[in-house]
Amino acid sequence: MSEITRRDLLASGLAVSATSLLSRSAFARSAALLGDDMPQGSAAAVPAIAPREQLLFDFGWKFTLGDGWHPSKDLNFGYGQSDFAKTGEFKFAKAGFDDSKWRTLNLPHDWAVELPFVHDDSGEGDSSLLSHGYKPLGRRYPEASVGWYRREFDIPASDLGRRIWVEFDGAMRDVIIFANGCFIGRNDNGYAPFRFDLTDFLNYGAKNYIVLRVDASFGDGWFYEGAGIYRHVWLTKTDPVHLGNWDSTVRTTVSGDSATLALAAVVQNEGKEAANAKVSWKIVDSKGATVATAEAPAHPIPVGGSTTYTASAKLVKPALWSVDEPNLYSALVTVEVDGKVRDAERVTFGVRTAVFDPDKGFFLNGKPLKIQGTCNHQDHAGVGAALPDRLQWFRLAVLREMGCNAVRTSHNMPTPEWVDACDRMGMLMMCETRQMSSNPEGLQQLELMVKRYRNSPSIIIWSIGNEENQLQGPMAEQGAKIGASMVQRCHELDPTRVVSAAVNADNEKGLSTALDIIGFNYHQQFPDGFHKKYPKRPIYGSETSSAISTRGEYATDPLRNTVNSYDGVVPWGETPEGWWKFYGEREWTAGGFAWTGFDYRGEPTPYGWPSINSQFGILDMCGFPKDYYYYYKAWWRKERSVHVFPHWNWPGREGNEIPVWVYSNLDEVELFLNGKSLGSQRVPHLGHVQWKVRYEPGTIEARGAKDGKVVLTDKRETTGPAVSLRLSVDRTEINADGEDVAVVKVEGLDGDGRLVPIAKNSVEFKVSGAGALIGVGNGDPNCQESDKGAKRSLFNGFAQVIVQSTKQPGEIRIEAVKEGEDNPDLKPAGIVITTKQAPLRPAVPVV
Ligand code: GAL
Repeated sequence: MSEITRRDLLASGLAVSATSLLSRSAFARSAALLGDDMPQGSAAAVPAIAPREQLLFDFGWKFTLGDGWHPSKDLNFGYGQSDFAKTGEFKFAKAGFDDSKWRTLNLPHDWAVELPFVHDDSGEGDSSLLSHGYKPLGRRYPEASVGWYRREFDIPASDLGRRIWVEFDGAMRDVIIFANGCFIGRNDNGYAPFRFDLTDFLNYGAKNYIVLRVDASFGDGWFYEGAGIYRHVWLTKTDPVHLGNWDSTVRTTVSGDSATLALAAVVQNEGKEAANAKVSWKIVDSKGATVATAEAPAHPIPVGGSTTYTASAKLVKPALWSVDEPNLYSALVTVEVDGKVRDAERVTFGVRTAVFDPDKGFFLNGKPLKIQGTCNHQDHAGVGAALPDRLQWFRLAVLREMGCNAVRTSHNMPTPEWVDACDRMGMLMMCETRQMSSNPEGLQQLELMVKRYRNSPSIIIWSIGNEENQLQGPMAEQGAKIGASMVQRCHELDPTRVVSAAVNADNEKGLSTALDIIGFNYHQQFPDGFHKKYPKRPIYGSETSSAISTRGEYATDPLRNTVNSYDGVVPWGETPEGWWKFYGEREWTAGGFAWTGFDYRGEPTPYGWPSINSQFGILDMCGFPKDYYYYYKAWWRKERSVHVFPHWNWPGREGNEIPVWVYSNLDEVELFLNGKSLGSQRVPHLGHVQWKVRYEPGTIEARGAKDGKVVLTDKRETTGPAVSLRLSVDRTEINADGEDVAVVKVEGLDGDGRLVPIAKNSVEFKVSGAGALIGVGNGDPNCQESDKGAKRSLFNGFAQVIVQSTKQPGEIRIEAVKEGEDNPDLKPAGIVITTKQAPLRPAVPVV
């Protein structure tokens, strides 16, 4: 293996020793996944096509904290009764308002991750602190729960006559929005996108002002949700005759070696006269070649009216979308009136079939495929809920390397770039809405989700919710009705996909009666009986496992809030082996989703304070693998693997018995301590092997054999203390677009250059040049150091630094030095990341 591949692999955080490196071909695939098939390198593609403009509205906002209780601390907002009384009088969103003391920042932004940790021993209302991982959000923390965003922007005179929307992919949470002194609207949930038509309120050929008050006093979930405009914002400009928002659909039916495409689009006429509009479609493959065209004839649309257009097209021998080959097509949808193009957009889709069979499980393109899934929340170390697009790819690539082929967006509508990355990377999705209800808000959230993502080939299941115990129990009758209304709405908007829910019950009543396929959360006592009783209903594990472990820790110690990495699990959960043996071995299940891929802030199970995040992750908050990761890798990937643990640094434990486990998919493993065999064991299918070993310093080595021959080894060596640092990075060259990020791995090494798996040294980072540090982490669930500071302790050998480019090409220099006086001497390390000129996404200029 060449130096570069080894370095890159180490940088990806996935390799522990040279002997456990992936095969060359597997790595070739992972390199592609970690990198460069992402459109424009760092950011997801924008679907707009001229004359439509979709401008990124992320850069150059002003921000200040307000107050959720007293108007005097909240810019005097709400002092009187008149804030909403007169259109045009809201002074914060007008010229002349002084925001010079507000901070300047770029979106996406999560102010919760910037707040200090707070603990309240009174117990009163502690649950909101717990949920947020001890970040002080909620009614009890008014001074930290409201944020104001303000942005000045120009609208050219030439825009007069166009329709102009401001579009938010999501903000946490209750938003009130004003523009040019006028109240524009509200949005009251944290995950669904929202948009407002600003056309009537804008100053053309002049300055404009937009202001948002974002109030995170109330939450949507029971986990860390962040606070603020944590997803992208867009300013979209169209002709008055334009395509309906997320109304364009491409539905594919595969038959033999061709596919029929049912094409549909809606055109709205917001102009001043009737329009005789026609719609055409050009289907292009991933290389840009046109493979089909279609047209729907011109049709008059009255002023204020809209018309649905349909057509069909055929693809011969389409390149199917699959987890191994995520082939995508685009439909370029164009609206023309009297020979002039008035609007156009790109709809990305894939051709594939997805079928759930009650006897044989899930089939993708006619081939059986077990869902090897993980549930995930959406925050990451250092940045909270405000992930740069590239980080979505980074996280998916890490899951993918483990053999995970599906993600569930628990428990909310996902960030668009997560879905986009799944489409492009070949990751299946169960896409979940937040509010399970057929009330207007619940249905609206559901509709937005289905409309927004129904062309995405990665999505195979719509989920209408999670663990609604009332709707399964005391309110089962209402549950059945609410469920039926929601399922029906999904089917109307998207007849091509099954609808399900994550149900923590026996699934025999309530909303379960309405579901197309049955998801069990935990409760492995139920599926067998259910399958016998309802043999026609497909079954999968909608949420399983909830195994817990602390990366690099091997004892469960309530005094240190650690959980051992062998078999930690909550009472309602299962170890990885416990749930995968169940779902993996039953042909009739479609597989399932483990709780969770990554640790997440909040819900700091199994301990409370000072733990600030959950320990459910197979990976920690930074994406560094825990030992469980290698169980999945052994049984979810075909490539051979051997992973031995724990580490072999146990000073003072000489002569004591230490459990040594090996995860492997080979036939047999022989264990050696300092070259002496401790015996060989056959690896049970979907299991592991283990020994008790009297500790002596040196080397513990596992040799894995296939057909009687040793084919792979893995070892842990007793190291000295950390004396130097090493920095490595996921990519050494990133785009100078103000969005791209590099993820830097920091390691503590001993005198022989070996990772010290117990190193906890404190490290300071100096970042200079064409980028900035946007977050740090180390994966320690009990670490309360700042995510935003320029220092971090290593946690069991590792820390992570995330740096983001500016728009100026150049170099980002990162230096890591020891921090603090009592820290033993550490040789510093440095790394340079090149930022290269790259196309900038069209954006609203900063004024
Ligand atoms: C489930 C729930 C998840 C998480 C998990 C922890 O019941 O759906 O959100 O709380 O428990 O085990």
